[in-house]
Amino acid sequence: MTVRLTQIAKRAGCAAKHPPGYLFPLLKNLPKIVDPNVLVGNATADDAAVYRISDEIALVLTTDFFTPVVDDPYDFGSIAAANALSDVYAMGGRPLTALNLVGFPDEILDGQVLARILEGGAAKAREAGIDIVGGHTIKTDEPIYGLAVTGVVHPDRILSNDRAKEGDVLVLTKPIGIGIITTAAKQDRDTGGAIAEAIRLMSMLNRDACDAMLEVGVHAVTDVTGFGLLGHLRNMTLASGLEAEIELARVPVIAAAKTYVEGGIAPGGTHANHRFMAEHVDYEVDKTAQLLLCDAQTSGGLLIAVPEGKAAQLVAALEKRGTPAAARIGRLTSARGVAGRARVRP
Ligand code: CO
Ligand code: CO
Repeated sequence: MTVRLTQIAKRAGCAAKHPPGYLFPLLKNLPKIVDPNVLVGNATADDAAVYRISDEIALVLTTDFFTPVVDDPYDFGSIAAANALSDVYAMGGRPLTALNLVGFPDEILDGQVLARILEGGAAKAREAGIDIVGGHTIKTDEPIYGLAVTGVVHPDRILSNDRAKEGDVLVLTKPIGIGIITTAAKQDRDTGGAIAEAIRLMSMLNRDACDAMLEVGVHAVTDVTGFGLLGHLRNMTLASGLEAEIELARVPVIAAAKTYVEGGIAPGGTHANHRFMAEHVDYEVDKTAQLLLCDAQTSGGLLIAVPEGKAAQLVAALEKRGTPAAARIGRLTSARGVAGRARVRP
């Protein structure tokens, strides 16, 4: 009998992330970063840290790991690797190497399961053009897998989340709803078999989307993961001193996710995001749409702020590379009051 990995994990994928409302207050008393070579640190809740080595080269440093989001060990490994690599692409960087981070319950699972997880991760790293050069493993009650990735970027060409400008168009490169689909599958309620599409989307590298935005030139970018579309958008608007307007009709959504969320299926992380975002968003859409926009994604797409005059060029560059979505979903406006707010229109 094959083991279903999601049945061992209490929480799945990036929905296992601690929500921003819990995390940020705990971080605020940590010592301030003083090294002047830290070009991007923890102050702006960006995707990765960036450290200047010389005027020509900076390191991009990031790590992501989580519990199984799907049942198949190989798929889990490949998704976790794609998700960890994404934070390098979200800084406009290029990955160089990675290390495995592993927790494994060897008393309840066969070692072959771990071997398959690592094979999935290694194959995804290879697809990204890098090797996994080592790692660390501990015994845990649930499987945990992810990578610590090292990449490079030119210090003058870092794409952080804090340089978006008023008037920028927001472009999203994968549809949302992944958290709802994986939760439906975990609960045996994925009647439409949407998990196959979700696995395809989660396993897809954000490299092509990164290449497209580097070719066109954009202001700011982040990837959409555990805090959901609106949560990651908030990190960008807060860091950039702006507000955002989203048009729901333009946001690409996996069709089954809408049906499932209407039926009451959503991960705990999605509800936590929704509660946290309530005071930061003016919604003109119903609760179903609100949950979709806050849905905790695992290995979601890039959310890009591009100057209005280059938006069509960016969409064309993404479409040429066949990214799962290339959707203009809204725009950035000046902050009328406190930065970081969003308005969602039908
Ligand atoms: Co990220
Ligand atoms: Co991350």
